[in-house]
Amino acid sequence: MSQAIRFHETGGPEVLRLETVDVGAPGRGQVRVRHTRIAVNFIDIYYRIGRYPAALPNGLGSDAVGVVEAVGEGVTFLAAGDRVGYMLGPLGAYSEVRVMPAEVLIKLPDGISDDTASTIIMKGLTAQYLFRQVYPLKAGETILYHAAAGGVGLIACQWAKALGVTMIGTVGSDEKAEAAKLAGCAHIINYKRENFVERVKEITDGKGVPVVYDSVGKDTLMGSLDCLQKKGTLVSNGTSSGPVVLDVTLLAFKGSLWVTRPAMVDYALPRFNMLKMADELFDLVLQGKIVSAPRQRFALADAADAHRALEARTTIGATILTL
Ligand SMILES: NC(=O)c1ccc[n+]([C@@H]2O[C@H](COP(=O)([O-])OP(=O)(O)OC[C@H]3O[C@@H](n4cnc5c(N)ncnc54)[C@H](OP(=O)(O)O)[C@@H]3O)[C@@H](O)[C@H]2O)c1
Repeated sequence: MSQAIRFHETGGPEVLRLETVDVGAPGRGQVRVRHTRIAVNFIDIYYRIGRYPAALPNGLGSDAVGVVEAVGEGVTFLAAGDRVGYMLGPLGAYSEVRVMPAEVLIKLPDGISDDTASTIIMKGLTAQYLFRQVYPLKAGETILYHAAAGGVGLIACQWAKALGVTMIGTVGSDEKAEAAKLAGCAHIINYKRENFVERVKEITDGKGVPVVYDSVGKDTLMGSLDCLQKKGTLVSNGTSSGPVVLDVTLLAFKGSLWVTRPAMVDYALPRFNMLKMADELFDLVLQGKIVSAPRQRFALADAADAHRALEARTTIGATILTL
């Protein structure tokens, strides 16, 4: 049996309920994992409110770290006692123990603590695929990255710096500006009180940037297009402020722009690619080029409060649930 956060209907944080669920033994190709830390990600909110589809009732969460307790038939690359993390697979990470498909599990290196791992599996692999696969960054480029002090954001600041890229980051408060600066973001714009399009033009001497990573969506998307150089790329990688609707004809008027809306699963699978991405991330962490730890902790039973904090924009960096 396991305590787990589940939802029976979509809606506000109040739909999240703590329930007791059966876990059982792992079947063929499966592994039972006892979680030590659970990561909270904005995508969990999309499922909770129904922006992303989920069969109901359901568990929630897709990103956690823990220890393998039992291994099902046919699983040769994991054993009881292995430390693992994941960010793909069925919903249900908000739980003490669960059965998972072995193929989505990533073994954690000894030098990376559970605390750190809980902040980098989904968030760091997102930075990996955005910066190294979707639009591969080159040293010397200047880029615009929205919500630079968020969970993905603080890792992105450090990864951009490690690549020799100058990041212009937007943030919603002075405290967040300080956090982004400490993480290596070169230019910081508080987009609650400054016009970020004008500031990007100033910083780039009117040239604009070759790429914008926009996870904010509704509130920023049009401005993001105006920050791009001709034939520049908008990576629309989230909708924290609300969904976006785009008339593609605008892309011609604004300089033959490219837009992509990438999903992790298409870049992380097949498994060998996910493991290659994780190796690159873990190397940067082990070299000290990316330093990451949870900034907000909530008990599993208080997952609704974690959602409230994330939606209210009061969090900085990563938020986790503890057990
Ligand atoms: N496509 C993918 O594969 C993928 C994978 C992982 C994450 N993502 C996306 O990346 C983004 C970051 O994820 P995260 O988990 O690290 O979250 P997060 O960045 O820690 O939190 C979201 C941040 O967005 C900003 N924001 C702006 N307007 C907002 C609004 N109206 N409501 C709430 N937040 C608003 C806030 O920062 P400020 O106060 O500084 O504005 C807030 O802290 C999310 O949009 C997520 O969906 C996409």
